[in-house]
Amino acid sequence: MEGEAFQDHYPVEFANCFGCGRRNQAGLKIKSYWDGEETVCRFAPEPHQCGGAPGFACSGLVAMLIDCHGAATAAAAKLRDEGFALGDKPLARFTAASLKVEYLKPVPLDPVRGRRGLRDRRGALRAASGSVVGVHRVPETDRVIGRVTEGAQGPRVPFFTERKRDMKKSLGANTILYPTPVLLVGTYDAAGKPNVMTAAWGGICCSSPPCVAVSLRKATYSHGSIVLQRAFTVSVPSEKYAAAADYCGIVSGKRADKFAEAGLTAVRSTLVNAPYVGEFPLVLECRLLHQFELGLHTQFVGEILDVKAEDDILDARGAVDVEKLKPFFFAPESNGYYGTGRRLGDAFSMGKAVKKKGP
Ligand SMILES: Cc1cc2nc3c(=O)[nH]c(=O)nc-3n(C[C@H](O)[C@H](O)[C@H](O)COP(=O)(O)O)c2cc1C
Repeated sequence: MEGEAFQDHYPVEFANCFGCGRRNQAGLKIKSYWDGEETVCRFAPEPHQCGGAPGFACSGLVAMLIDCHGAATAAAAKLRDEGFALGDKPLARFTAASLKVEYLKPVPLDPVRGRRGLRDRRGALRAASGSVVGVHRVPETDRVIGRVTEGAQGPRVPFFTERKRDMKKSLGANTILYPTPVLLVGTYDAAGKPNVMTAAWGGICCSSPPCVAVSLRKATYSHGSIVLQRAFTVSVPSEKYAAAADYCGIVSGKRADKFAEAGLTAVRSTLVNAPYVGEFPLVLECRLLHQFELGLHTQFVGEILDVKAEDDILDARGAVDVEKLKPFFFAPESNGYYGTGRRLGDAFSMGKAVKKKGP
């Protein structure tokens, strides 16, 4: 048992516990320490801390040891998980959400052994001839940190920390995946009238041949046009075209001339029989490769024959600069459009730092 006690690092306002608070003069001052990867708590009960029968520990005392040592273990483990050492910052304070103790045998307060009678070793509370089952749940992480088992060497209470329990709520079978792109699918109808519709159910789906997939309901006017022309374009709007893109998602080209009404220019692709949006900075020209009936939607897979980009969204290497393109995405649950955030780091590179830490 080395180093400083965890409980001595609780912030003053949380250091008043009767069991382990350093500021509680009348308290028991239970202390916990690191012992390698495990935690240790020693406690020498006094004879007056007995239960109904003299010589045996009061059951509340046993529970208190499990509680205070468990909470302190959770706090110290959290600090370590965050990469800090004791003393770097005040410990987080956990409180018991649930503590279950099963007293299988009375725990003796042998005056000799009593000096170390309730002794927690290797993160284990050994009760000389007692056996305790304690489960301590920490609300923030729902960690179970104290449980007693009876092993060959006698009863012991291993204290351990479990991985953070998965607290996710089920949202049901739903079409939720972020970020959902905002794509404008361009087509010609049978009469050669250009049309454009907004599609969020889409994205790159193959590298070689380069392909993009968009899923359209049969009820859309664009659906029939793709089937007819076996071609479509995908134009990617910048943030400043969010209103125009939205408009193309609420009006049908069956009756309206969406290009004209949105003030957009239909540019004929030279590669496929489909128009793209002249004002939008990034365009994919596609020939229909596959069509899959998925249910409500038909997924159209288009082979990308060319990508066209405005000069002012390219970086010095000639690659699309996302911060210049300013694409935005759609949040289906809140019906919102969101801009693109900042660059977080280098792909195929950031992960190397994680790899080094591994085994
Ligand atoms: C943000 C947004 C995303 C949309 N995504 C899709 C989609 O992926 N598939 C689809 O069939 N309809 C989608 N819609 C609806 C169509 O864009 C809409 O029905 C449009 O009027 C169809 O145009 P059209 O009849 O001219 O083809 C979306 C609408 C919005 C506003």
